[in-house]
Amino acid sequence: MKKYLVVGNPINHSLSPLIHNFWIKENNIKSIYDSQKLNIQDLDKLILSIREGKISGANITVPFKRDIISFLDKLSPEAKDTQSVNTIYLKDNEITGHNTDVMGFKKSIEDIKFNIEGKKILILGAGGVVPSIIYALNKMKASQIMISNRTKSKATNLKKLFKNLDIFNWGDLPDFDMVINATSLGLNEKDTINLDFSNIKKGKFFYDVIYNPAGTNFLSNARKLGHETENGKKMFIYQAASAFEIWHGIKPRIDEKIFELLNK
Ligand code: ATR
Repeated sequence: MKKYLVVGNPINHSLSPLIHNFWIKENNIKSIYDSQKLNIQDLDKLILSIREGKISGANITVPFKRDIISFLDKLSPEAKDTQSVNTIYLKDNEITGHNTDVMGFKKSIEDIKFNIEGKKILILGAGGVVPSIIYALNKMKASQIMISNRTKSKATNLKKLFKNLDIFNWGDLPDFDMVINATSLGLNEKDTINLDFSNIKKGKFFYDVIYNPAGTNFLSNARKLGHETENGKKMFIYQAASAFEIWHGIKPRIDEKIFELLNK
């Protein structure tokens, strides 16, 4: 029985075990997918377990997506360029790191047929998932990527990885076609973001990386103001599917059953 894991801190909110175990069962694979809360000093033990074959693969989540890199032998191009890894495994005796968040975000946008090319995008937040979003937006040829974070230095730091970023002060609202909430505001149902979108022209696209809860105030307020909205559920599903394919060599089925599973 092969063993897979998602590791992070905190970890009990993670829906990765639910979705991976569903696909493992559906495809009759002899494996189990578990979750484990780790501290940073435990990362070397995780790597050792993978080298020894005790664990066949792991998803890495907040706050270790960058810290894990120093333990790895090889990175995919997306992982290298974003300095962010969410999927690891042993291949040809090398611990390899991938970033499937990039693909997850990109596919979620393609699914809803929003064309990023030539669009001005505003990102709110500068946490763990943001480099993956910027990388994907560049691939999809956004004309301008703007970023605003409460702690401005974190946004400025991202310019080391992505030279084309435009940084704005928290509270400023530049003109945009699409705005992405990549802050943690919304994880608690009562959270609101202290930005006033009421003077923005209708018909923009509001995207929230948060998928649990499915309807954040950010999205419900946007709908009331006449904007298109999308939450992060598809991004989550696609990043999981991509990790599943890397480990098991099978494209898992994505259908209504998966959405129902995550809605429970
Ligand atoms: P991490 O920073 O560990 O990667 P994250 O959940 O990915 O964690 O990121 C949290 C994001 O939400 C950050 O951009 C954070 O802003 P700061 O960098 O200023 O901390 C943002 N955030 C959290 N609470 C916020 C609040 N009350 N107002 C505005 N932004 C907030």
